[in-house]
Amino acid sequence: MLGVANRIVDYSEFYELSVKIDRIPGFLHAPEGAALYTLAAEGYGVGAIVELGSLFGRSTSWLAAGSQKTQRECVTAIDLFSFSNDESPNLENMPVEEQEAVLRKDLFDRQNRGRSLNEFEKNIREMNLSDRVSSIVATSEEAATEWDKPIRLLFVDADHAYEAVKKDIELWSPHICPGGCIAFHDVGDWPGVTRFYDEFKNADNGFRHLIQVGTLAVAHRLPE
Ligand SMILES: C[S@@+](CC[C@H](N)C(=O)[O-])C[C@H]1O[C@@H](n2cnc3c(N)ncnc32)[C@H](O)[C@@H]1O
Repeated sequence: MLGVANRIVDYSEFYELSVKIDRIPGFLHAPEGAALYTLAAEGYGVGAIVELGSLFGRSTSWLAAGSQKTQRECVTAIDLFSFSNDESPNLENMPVEEQEAVLRKDLFDRQNRGRSLNEFEKNIREMNLSDRVSSIVATSEEAATEWDKPIRLLFVDADHAYEAVKKDIELWSPHICPGGCIAFHDVGDWPGVTRFYDEFKNADNGFRHLIQVGTLAVAHRLPE
């Protein structure tokens, strides 16, 4: 019965966390967050937890709460932090391709870099997770040029275009330790990510599909 009791505790813990974390603007649903939490708390391997695409800290909070639970490795959150919550451009009546172009221009405008970092840090502070998170204001490509440590959990949720996800994995996957995981968000939802993950899980690349929860697909590196 101890196993059952522990599961009940886990579920109530996830529920309480989701009530708090869902106040942070973002796109990750609670069951996907619970999966990130569990991987951060109990995943295999030794190495950093790295997040590509943190926005206002919703997914970061799930990862950091898991890391806090078992006192595992801290989270490195990489984003341009250039989206302001109260200055969204007026996209009404615009074709989707034009909307994407406007958002992309806003995102990569150097002047916008770091303008949502305060809000991100405030959200993490209010979750009492500041000691579990460090942030890097950069594109994932820029951050990758400086990165030289093993990673046991990589969460990919930055640029959702096919070529961008492909590049992220080319740059970051060599750092994943044996048994370590890559979690992709929006698989089945965003065409670029879905196409890339379909190719990735079927390729002879040393990774194997582990599980999908909602649109969160997780692959793990096979032992050498
Ligand atoms: C879908 S949001 C992330 C949502 C977040 N993971 C959550 O669940 O709360 C995508 C984020 O990726 C960031 N982003 C997009 N392209 C990027 C790039 N090339 N490098 C770093 N961050 C990028 C954007 O600034 C945005 O905050």
